[in-house]
Amino acid sequence: MKETTGNEALSPRFGSYIGVGPNGNLWVDGCDVQALAEQHGAPLYIVSENELRERYRAFRDGFLAHYPEVEILFANKSNNGLAIRHILNQEGAGGDCFGVNEMYIALLAGTDPSKLVLNGSNKQDEELDMAIANGVCINIDAMDELDRIDAISQRLGRSVGIGIRLKLDLEPLRDRIGVAMHGPGTLKEQSDSTKWGMTREQTVEIVKRAQRMPNIELKETHFHLSRMSNDPENFAIMAREMIEWSAHLRDATGWTPPCIDIGGGWTFGKWYGTGPNAQIDDDRAPTPEIYGSLCGTAIKEECERFGLPLPKLRIEPGRAISGPSGVAVGRVGAIKQGEKKKWVNLDLSTNHLSWASALDWYYHAVAVRGTAREATETVDLVGPLCNSDELGTQRKMPPLARGDFVAFLDAGGYTESSAARYNAQLLPETVLVANGAAEVITVREQWRDVAGRFRVPPRLLAGSFGKTRA
Ligand SMILES: Cc1ncc(COP(=O)(O)O)c(C=O)c1O
Repeated sequence: MKETTGNEALSPRFGSYIGVGPNGNLWVDGCDVQALAEQHGAPLYIVSENELRERYRAFRDGFLAHYPEVEILFANKSNNGLAIRHILNQEGAGGDCFGVNEMYIALLAGTDPSKLVLNGSNKQDEELDMAIANGVCINIDAMDELDRIDAISQRLGRSVGIGIRLKLDLEPLRDRIGVAMHGPGTLKEQSDSTKWGMTREQTVEIVKRAQRMPNIELKETHFHLSRMSNDPENFAIMAREMIEWSAHLRDATGWTPPCIDIGGGWTFGKWYGTGPNAQIDDDRAPTPEIYGSLCGTAIKEECERFGLPLPKLRIEPGRAISGPSGVAVGRVGAIKQGEKKKWVNLDLSTNHLSWASALDWYYHAVAVRGTAREATETVDLVGPLCNSDELGTQRKMPPLARGDFVAFLDAGGYTESSAARYNAQLLPETVLVANGAAEVITVREQWRDVAGRFRVPPRLLAGSFGKTRA
């Protein structure tokens, strides 16, 4: 893709295509964010197409440098916009679909179904039907799923590829700690406590039963470590156990998984910090290259140890691709000076940055106008919701005034796709920017979108006008 005018001159730089532009404002992919926000309004999500492509390529190349056959399945849940999916299709990415709607969107965007997987612990018939009809691999995560898949595939007269989601033992992670993603406890305790995955005995039984079903093709095993850990060693430990499990399956059933899918949870860091933890959230955070090297080596070593052929490797990064590609912009309203604190109210809320106050994960906030101005104030950036709605507490910011815009960086993942409507807020607009041009890819909700879903039973109509019940 053509290099963007202005991108070379960004300084400081928050990404390859995001940084402070020639007029001192925040720029994203050749566009002045101040101008974008004035034109499109706030709250506003902005996605850089070039940054998104670059992040995808970093994973592809980082893993391919250390492993021969790699498929990147973008975790659609992290940003399931149709245009986003089109861009990733052009890059050759596959996708992890969670639920019928994400699968529908991915198929609607023309994603190659052979590069899609369907994950979920309680898949509905409608999902299984759609997956089988379109040739999407289904990662089994319940004992009765195989029979249900078999019945539907026979009814449709179509064969189907399946994987099995594993409940890894993760013994080496018994005492390791990380982010409290699934409650308190060590990484192993957290992983054990989740609903996901089948035990060794269950996977053996599923494989044996599937081997007797002519329309079922066994394709992969699957595991997702999740965002509990930012330590790349833990991912290599997980990959090792996947191979050990493959050897177990081979010995017990004669089937060797031709592909292992090691899920998502891959992190990213920036020099300014994408969370509160130094060394984890800054630019010492693991890169795709480091992940690729550690996981690639672990898999090769274990395959050699167990005499297994190298499987195809699939990974499902979400936030590490979509996160740094987007920013979320809010407009400053009331500014209140308290005795101990100063609050800057924005029209952006935790509805739109829904992970803002959870999970050790936050978004670095910058002023859109005069972004590099000295940060002389410490403020709480809050949204308009009736809860405390803290988007960022005790943030160092330059002086802000009503009407200014504030941008939260690295907000391209799990923001639009998990945005909520609490307090009847309208969902924001999203613009895609590339090389100085902006296009709307998600339209802003209107009152009719919120009110239009409500129904008043006719029997309530007359009674509520002017009369109160005795
Ligand atoms: C099965 C699966 N794969 C991939 C992902 C993506 O994770 P991340 O966005 O942390 O990379 C998730 C996230 O929940 C997941 O559940």
